[in-house]
Amino acid sequence: MVLNYSARTLLTVWISLLFSPLVYGAEVPIYSQADIVHPIKAAHGMLSIANKYAADAGLAVLKEGGNAIDAAVTVAFILSVTAPQAGNLGGGGFMLVRLAKENKVIAIDYREKAPLLAHRDLFLDTNGNLDTEKTRYSFLSCGVPGTVAGMAYALEKYGTIPLKRALEPAIKLARNGFLVDEQLYTDLVSAKNQMSKFTESYKTFYKPDGTPYKIGERIIQKDLAWSLTQLYLEGPSAFYEGAVAEKIVESMRQYGGIITKKDLKLYSVIPREPVEGTYRGYTIYSMPPPSSGGIHVIQLLNLIEGYPISTWGQNSANTIHVLAESMKHAFADRSKHLGDSDFVKVPLVALTSKSYAEQLRKSIDLTKATPSKKISPYDSKNQYESLQTNHFSIIDKEGNAVANTYTLNFSFGSKLVVPGAGFLLNNQMDDFASKSGEPNAYGLTGDSANAIAPGKRMLSSMSPTIIMKDNKPFLITGSPGGSNIISTVFQIITNVIDFNLNIAEATYAPRIHHQWYPEELRIEKGINADTKHLLEQRGHKVVYTNTMGAAQSILIDANGVLYGVADPRIPDGIVVGY
Ligand code: GLY
Repeated sequence: MVLNYSARTLLTVWISLLFSPLVYGAEVPIYSQADIVHPIKAAHGMLSIANKYAADAGLAVLKEGGNAIDAAVTVAFILSVTAPQAGNLGGGGFMLVRLAKENKVIAIDYREKAPLLAHRDLFLDTNGNLDTEKTRYSFLSCGVPGTVAGMAYALEKYGTIPLKRALEPAIKLARNGFLVDEQLYTDLVSAKNQMSKFTESYKTFYKPDGTPYKIGERIIQKDLAWSLTQLYLEGPSAFYEGAVAEKIVESMRQYGGIITKKDLKLYSVIPREPVEGTYRGYTIYSMPPPSSGGIHVIQLLNLIEGYPISTWGQNSANTIHVLAESMKHAFADRSKHLGDSDFVKVPLVALTSKSYAEQLRKSIDLTKATPSKKISPYDSKNQYESLQTNHFSIIDKEGNAVANTYTLNFSFGSKLVVPGAGFLLNNQMDDFASKSGEPNAYGLTGDSANAIAPGKRMLSSMSPTIIMKDNKPFLITGSPGGSNIISTVFQIITNVIDFNLNIAEATYAPRIHHQWYPEELRIEKGINADTKHLLEQRGHKVVYTNTMGAAQSILIDANGVLYGVADPRIPDGIVVGY
């Protein structure tokens, strides 16, 4: 079964509704509210992914008897070919895995690292000003990539298929080409100016006449096929010590980057304990530092647990008010305390404790917005780029589950393709706080906890999350969207648990976001003007924004039925299952 749950589906439902007796006042409605949006159902295994090629290949792995980790690694390599905006070899990310036999959740950190020659003031000019062209679009913006090591590690530790099997479909798609989808075409149009500044990138992703490949046109990536083939022949060492490493280091030498052979050789994946919390009887597992995501998702759930939001109603002014006030606190804490826990002490236990949430709740006024300047980060004595990250959720018939979020940072990362190797380099160095208090591309500020240091991992917001109920997987979720990732994952969880929405309704529901600074409450256009007005009366500066996040989720009910949804905020998301 292959079904695309896209915005078009919702449009069809709306059009049917328009002509239904319900709209024209008949007594018996054809659709009840609960029937408006249905997730996709399956019995054995399921994948929710932002790309059809990856979904089909992942499903084939599951049907052959591979497990969720086998499917995830196959998917990640395919996305590096068919969704190069975020799917990658030259980036990094996080994988959360629920292992059915051991009944435990583990976290794999394959985030990029600052090169050894990096230092705190790397991006400051002689006047101490931050050079954002360098943090975002130069070879200096690249962290040492972790994806290849991460995928090889996951497969070796927890998979059942050889790396060669996981790479085969990606190599074929790179060598023989694939048909461009709507998302890739749209992103290629947006990135054209920046990409045209570097010949190698331009010739990789645009036609000889300089125009982007259109929807349905075939794009062939011979150099990328070469890189993937090196991995096929030599394993991950090709990327970190062999022929691919040579090309990365040569590009750094030629174009002013600082990643050396030593950086690549020393790169290592770190297995971590997931951050764990509880919410109204559910157990939440999410990504620990160097992501801020897990800590803040749990902190937000702890805060909200003290309010009767299910009585107040989903997206009512009361509910949005406490969500926004809670988010301000979480992002204030993020700015000061979050960084790579291998380098700085992150007060993880305190920030995710119920008692800290209780203390914060006392400062939340239910009738008016607290100005951001009156909110300070935790005291221990007591953007907008286009969607650029890729999340996928997978479950197999044994109940092994994967929530994987990986990224190049911006859409197409630094927009720099390694000459002869065909893959894009990340610009993840922009996720460091390169200058204390100066916002990064997502408007997020940071301090010394997230300052650049050699070998350190830059702070992330990626929040791959697995929720368990009665020792069984209940929800696998995650999203792209920079700082919106945290608020998106948080709202998916509350929509399901507090408002009893099915996973499709929970995903489609309009979202809100507040990140302390800039001092504005962002709302999607589906939140009505009356609610906006009520929030403004409480002192919020409310702004309608573009859509936020694009979650790919799977929910498993008490009978073991799988329900999947792909967020309609992107055009090519898909759920497949069997
Ligand atoms: N590069 C976005 C993030 O990791 O949060």
